[in-house]
Amino acid sequence: MPRKSAKERTHRDLLQIPDLSARELEKLFTLAESMRNGKYRKKPLAGKSLAMIFMKSSTRTRVSFEVGAWQLGGHALFLSPRDVQLGRGEPIADTARVLSRYVDGIMIRTFAHSEVEELAEYASVPVINGLTDLVHPCQVLADLLTVRQHLGGYKGKRFAWIGDGNNMANSWINAAYVLGFELTLACPEGYDPNAEILERARSKAKVRVVRDPMEAAKDANVINTDVWASMGQEKEQAIREKAFRGYRVDSALMKRAKRDAIFLHCLPAHRGEEVSAEVIDGPQSRVWDEAENRLHIQKAIMAVLMGGERL
Ligand code: CP
Ligand code: NVA
Repeated sequence: MPRKSAKERTHRDLLQIPDLSARELEKLFTLAESMRNGKYRKKPLAGKSLAMIFMKSSTRTRVSFEVGAWQLGGHALFLSPRDVQLGRGEPIADTARVLSRYVDGIMIRTFAHSEVEELAEYASVPVINGLTDLVHPCQVLADLLTVRQHLGGYKGKRFAWIGDGNNMANSWINAAYVLGFELTLACPEGYDPNAEILERARSKAKVRVVRDPMEAAKDANVINTDVWASMGQEKEQAIREKAFRGYRVDSALMKRAKRDAIFLHCLPAHRGEEVSAEVIDGPQSRVWDEAENRLHIQKAIMAVLMGGERL
């Protein structure tokens, strides 16, 4: 079955942040803000359905997409590998073609990024990436919305990433690439971000990878971290705990940042591992607004991709 060319596509997907331009991102944030402040009253998803495929666990992504679709007048279906034939080996391409006959959009959370690309290739409805091993675009868009909310914008701000060069780190690098902000990542040796994503970003933005968390945190406006072992890496927990010793975000590290710096974490968090309780539960933490912003940004994404809202 030949794959569809870009010309045959009648819709847009969100697989990675660079699928949107800087201008479109600005408009997306404004739209999400109008949803957050209650000014947006339209129901662009009326009569429409979103299929949500979860090959990994989720609290925030599942609930925010489902509630968000409902708030926009639509409906969402939760599909786990236990329930759908995909979990028994039905090809992704077939799943994409069949779901496209029923629903108006597909959100997927899975392991290999290539699976999301394949789904998008064969689906004739928009596909939204709800996390892969490579990237987590919806989360970093929610994080940027949180930065706008608390620091007034991201232009001229310095961002620090502390810890694993994982899907979140890669998405932050993608965001720096599109929006052009300064990002310093402190990752232990052997846990660097994706080399291609990093290289592309360096052509447009000041993105550095260092080993010392204190160096990354210096004068930062935003300090960001994530778990040491992501979903699918549970067996590496012990070895990672060793590799990441010294990469905990604690108050000493926060003191290296700007006085009004904020702390972000996509959650779930492990207090006492990648972040101390005093930081995540402290005055600089914005993690609950960050979690809430998943709802607003994903509503904006669905309104644009599935509901005809223009950017
Ligand atoms: N941050 C995030 O994506 O959370 P869930 O795994 O709960 O969806
Ligand atoms: N890096 C984490 C993010 C969870 C939202 C993971 O992939 O498990």
